[in-house]
Amino acid sequence: MEQLTTQVRDKHRLLSELARRRGFFWGSFEIYGGVSGFIDLGPLGTGLKREIEDSWRDFFLRRHGFTEISTPIITPERVLEASGHVQNFKDPMTECTNCHRRFRADQLIKEAAGTETEGLDLDQLSVLLKQVKCPECGGVLGSPQYFVTMFKTNIGPYGEDPAYTRPEAAQGIFVDFHRVLEVMREKFPLGIAQVGTVLRNEISPRQGPIRLREFTIMDFELFFDPERPECPYIDEVREDKLSIVTEDTRKKGRSETTRITTAEALEKRLVKSPWMAYFMSQSARFLAKLGINEHYQRFFEKLSTERAHYSSQTFDHEVKLDRWDWVEVAGFAYRTDFDLRSHMQATGIDLRVFKAYDSPIEKKVRTIRPNHQKIRQRFGTDAGRIISLLAKEDLPRILQGKRRGESIKIDAHDIPAEFFDTKEEVVKETGTKFLPHVIEPSFGVERLVYSTLEHNLRMKEERLILSLPFGIAPTQAAVYPLVNRDGLVEKAQSVHRSLLESGLRVEYDDGGSIGRRYARADEAGIPLGITVDYETMKDGSVTLRDRDSWNQIRVQIDELKSTIDSIVSSGFPAKTGQARRN
Ligand code: GLY
Repeated sequence: MEQLTTQVRDKHRLLSELARRRGFFWGSFEIYGGVSGFIDLGPLGTGLKREIEDSWRDFFLRRHGFTEISTPIITPERVLEASGHVQNFKDPMTECTNCHRRFRADQLIKEAAGTETEGLDLDQLSVLLKQVKCPECGGVLGSPQYFVTMFKTNIGPYGEDPAYTRPEAAQGIFVDFHRVLEVMREKFPLGIAQVGTVLRNEISPRQGPIRLREFTIMDFELFFDPERPECPYIDEVREDKLSIVTEDTRKKGRSETTRITTAEALEKRLVKSPWMAYFMSQSARFLAKLGINEHYQRFFEKLSTERAHYSSQTFDHEVKLDRWDWVEVAGFAYRTDFDLRSHMQATGIDLRVFKAYDSPIEKKVRTIRPNHQKIRQRFGTDAGRIISLLAKEDLPRILQGKRRGESIKIDAHDIPAEFFDTKEEVVKETGTKFLPHVIEPSFGVERLVYSTLEHNLRMKEERLILSLPFGIAPTQAAVYPLVNRDGLVEKAQSVHRSLLESGLRVEYDDGGSIGRRYARADEAGIPLGITVDYETMKDGSVTLRDRDSWNQIRVQIDELKSTIDSIVSSGFPAKTGQARRN
């Protein structure tokens, strides 16, 4: 593909124009002047997003038997308090003392001075901000303050039930973990996914489709037993190379990439969890499937000061983009048992998982045996309560008191040593309970849509071609009557119908000259064109045109589907005639 086409310069501008012209995306609320941080996906953008999401489901969920759920966007404050988001989901903000516009302090410093700022506290940012001026009016910037970047709201009309819109889809999964485990008949390790809208009230998003206030996350949480951290699929990817900028490298102030096999990355403990390494390798394959060459991908390890509050190791999967250099499209976080533990503490609900032993084990346990008769005689109607408190007493304290023949104080009562005994019993234990650890791969869908478009943009003879892979192209083929008369329209419509019925995503187009229709299809990323012409009426053959090479072959209508299937698996046949623009 690269040899056939010229490198495209100024991809971001050309792509933005193409996206608007052909209906991939544009800024939201345009007729009201627009609001930064929001984009609309047009017909083709919506189609591409849907295909990327579904291809992700095939790649990560269906083949591993992971399951998918859907939970609300509005989330009660107490859930996000327990998860640590209310406390931690915030960015440093500065306000211009002159024009009063507000900006993200760390990003302004990074842009102006080129210094890394993630993880710096307000005092450190304050010092650095003194060297930066307001990008709008040149005014002096004020001291930074934290701004919680979750949208706040209330459930119901009286404001008595504070809530936020979710900043990540993961909390719905953690809150539902136990119910899904039950529905999945205790299948373990368990992967639970969610694809849905999340919202982040970014302070001053100025990166078009890359930094959005409302976007789609597709992620899953892989719950596993920390005593059995192995990943059963790791052999599939052992030899796959990963490009990693490690935390160690970054701590030395450098940013070079270590290119290393997945197996080595695990042996050298660059990646702490086999599941994480497996998903990172699969993610690199997934992006390659979207047409993003591995040379434009890297995994960027976050420093401990930059990681989200719940993570003990994080890699951003980044893609190199024309305008914004390296941009995160997915994050891989080792969330340990942080979230389940937090929700268990907040609710008192046991979120642990039962693990059966290979065979039951016998355990000697010592229990407290209150002497009911003596207690009843002494304490009368209060005896039941005393007995129950005594049975729950701390065993070492009881034993100590008993040994010394001392009474023991319970509530306001002195219980003499002869009022209770301890007894050793043998009990059978069939298993134990543990709190699962979690690896989270999380993808930003709109960023993937944008990256996919940019990395498939080609230029051929001054025409833009969107070389979307067949599997994710929102439209896979278009059917054209050469002219709108002499029975060609009816013939083309019947070809269109039969291809639709065969399961292809195919459109019918009879507007404008055939050359213009081909040009539009090239920009819309439609891999195949099928033209019904006068020869069709004579011998039942149509022209099949390849978007990328512009090669054309003649195919019998009843062999169209099988020919397309073989093109999808082996490529378009070598050219049989002169390749033409149209
Ligand atoms: N849970 C993924 C994220 O917050 O980015």
